[in-house]
Amino acid sequence: MKSYNSFILLLFVFAILSRSVFSYEIDTYDFLMPNVWPNKDEVYLCTPIRIAPQKNFYIVGFKPNATMHTAHHMLLYGCSEPGSNDSVWSCGEMQSNEIDDQYNTASPCRSGSQIVYAWARDAPRLQLPKDVGFLIGRDSPIKYLVLQVHYMTKFPKGKTDNSGVFLEYTTTKMPRQAGVFLLGTSGVIAPNRVEHMETACTLYEDKIIHPFAFRPHTHSLGTQVTGYVVRRTNNGDTWQVLGSKNPQLPQMFYPVVNTAPIMKNDVLAARCVMNNTHNHPVQIGPTNKDEMCNFYLMYWVQDDGPLSQKYCFSAGPPYYYWNRAPEDFNRIPDMDVDVV
Ligand SMILES: *[C@@H]1O[C@H](CO)[C@@H](O)[C@H](O)[C@H]1NC(C)=O
Ligand SMILES: *[C@@H]1O[C@H](CO)[C@@H](O)[C@H](O)[C@H]1NC(C)=O
Ligand SMILES: *[C@@H]1O[C@H](CO)[C@@H](O)[C@H](O)[C@H]1NC(C)=O
Repeated sequence: MKSYNSFILLLFVFAILSRSVFSYEIDTYDFLMPNVWPNKDEVYLCTPIRIAPQKNFYIVGFKPNATMHTAHHMLLYGCSEPGSNDSVWSCGEMQSNEIDDQYNTASPCRSGSQIVYAWARDAPRLQLPKDVGFLIGRDSPIKYLVLQVHYMTKFPKGKTDNSGVFLEYTTTKMPRQAGVFLLGTSGVIAPNRVEHMETACTLYEDKIIHPFAFRPHTHSLGTQVTGYVVRRTNNGDTWQVLGSKNPQLPQMFYPVVNTAPIMKNDVLAARCVMNNTHNHPVQIGPTNKDEMCNFYLMYWVQDDGPLSQKYCFSAGPPYYYWNRAPEDFNRIPDMDVDVV
């Protein structure tokens, strides 16, 4: 009887193991630029795919197909609606105001924009943690994916490009759904000064999120971007670093330094250190004369969808600093952690 029981137990363990290790099939979708011609230096081009609306797909990995000689960066946006119905359009975040005679101009998404992948400087493939997938399609607000490539230089006449990403996906339901939370600020950086741009938000949803990757983003004045989780107890606030990076290094997703779960009433916070070396103020905005301060946090949730809370934006300097936040923090990190 005893051996019979352990046989059943063995079978059961084997069934669990085989389910989680090798039972789902992974397919690849080649999401590449359709022979585009970068018609000037520093152009941003976008191309969309519509996701079959009756089905769910889980993206589990991103394999880049690009080189740093051609592309500064690639971003993959999830959208409810794409920015354009064209097969290719010009989609700079840093817009110049020139009219483009080759491609129409629009943002990557018209609505429901979120970043699901970023590549720069020959970054290797990004594999999500085991059993984690980005849900797209039927039960997701992501109905389209839009690939954005920022090209370095104008291509010679007749030469076209197919940079892009091989998407690794499965139709098997993944028990852990991935999500992205974006922290950022508005505001102005005064001339010739080092400024802190800060934001913080309390999580109000009753979900447990497991952080695994982060991405810094500024334009040219950023020297450090750091994300924190603030745990609030009766004995005071504890600030734990999630990730910190010099944004002049490739702005891709890096592993977080602290994967401890984050839950309701914890605070997510971010700070960008900006060094305005100009004799004029620089404000947050979309062109390359403006700045940005963003910290993206990628996380997974067990057996549940991602947070509906997706953004945390503050008014930034000179209006908002952590010492004026409604959370009323009883301590604030004054020094920044070592830049990694
Ligand atoms: C991307 O892949 C395609 C075919 O899969 C290939 O022809 C092309 O050269 C690749 N492009 C780059 C930049 O690696
Ligand atoms: C694309 O086409 C659809 C259907 O014709 C239309 O509703 C939508 O507004 C168009 N989108 C853009 C960005 O022009
Ligand atoms: C800001 O930039 C100036 C000019 O490059 C440099 O001398 C200074 O050390 C920088 N300050 C910080 C805090 O990075």
